[in-house]
Amino acid sequence: MSKLKVIVSRAWPEAVEATLKEKYDVQLNETDVAMTKEEMKHALGACDAFLPTVTDPVDAEVLSTEPMRTKFIGNFGVGFNHIDLDAAKARGLTVTNTPEVLTDCTADIAMTLLLTVARRTGEGERHLRAKSWTGWRPTHMLGTKVTGKTLGMIGMGRIAQAMARRAHHGFGMKIAFVDPYPPSDEVISEFEATQYESIDKVLESSDFVSIHCPGGKETYHLLNRDNLAKMKPGAFLINTARGDVVDNDALIEALKNGTIAGAGLDVFEGEPNLNSRFLELENAVLLPHLGSASTETRIAMGNRVLDNLTAFEAGQIPKDKLV
Ligand code: DGY
Repeated sequence: MSKLKVIVSRAWPEAVEATLKEKYDVQLNETDVAMTKEEMKHALGACDAFLPTVTDPVDAEVLSTEPMRTKFIGNFGVGFNHIDLDAAKARGLTVTNTPEVLTDCTADIAMTLLLTVARRTGEGERHLRAKSWTGWRPTHMLGTKVTGKTLGMIGMGRIAQAMARRAHHGFGMKIAFVDPYPPSDEVISEFEATQYESIDKVLESSDFVSIHCPGGKETYHLLNRDNLAKMKPGAFLINTARGDVVDNDALIEALKNGTIAGAGLDVFEGEPNLNSRFLELENAVLLPHLGSASTETRIAMGNRVLDNLTAFEAGQIPKDKLV
């Protein structure tokens, strides 16, 4: 039987690329430069399975490719707001993602951002490296205590629950959340969590607010100038979900004028083109979309794509089928 032709949009961990080479007629991306729309369209005309990631907008235009050879799109990542699922379905494609394997690492980064921004550790390190430190003193670089505070979740899915586990059991934090699809009573009682019916209630009652909803049209600018103003003045916003869930201009204003105390951000509108006004803000901790960036997790993500592709090739329904 001839091997499936597979095109991978970015460089993947070596171990997974080795399996890809063994099993498939694969085209890897050794330069690791993001593909253009034209290159993606060409790929869909040339391969049986296309394996994109968050940096590849597989939109209606890309999916309008004629003739289309691709039957399977295996996204390397859990978020799929960069793929037009309706258009993919209309073209008869199977699309999968990689849930579960990145839950813990993403929750770790959310917690890292929370601690970093609250305790000003990024600022502290910059201060030290700039050789500005004159020694310990009672009023130097005071941050905000984390233990026992209230953490509000916008969305209470897998990653939010993993963060709540760390925050509640590790730091004695009280958990509040809003989610149109709430978790089971068992999960809610594990965290003694308070469920609210509106985002505003979570914003008003939390010392830290962490975003864990999917990206896309439905959540675009879910947090905006009006509701950011409902947060407590000493509160912090953490975003490890998608940049455009928050109106970034409104957030910059809120950070500048003290509407909120700080933000820890792993994702941005229009990334990787960061709004340069973020760079002027000492009360913003900024990371380059590192949520799932551990070697173990990135290998697990690649293997999860392979599992889905293997099932598809065998005529089975892949575990992580989206459409
Ligand atoms: C995802 O998987 O959607 C993350 O944003 C990247 O790991």
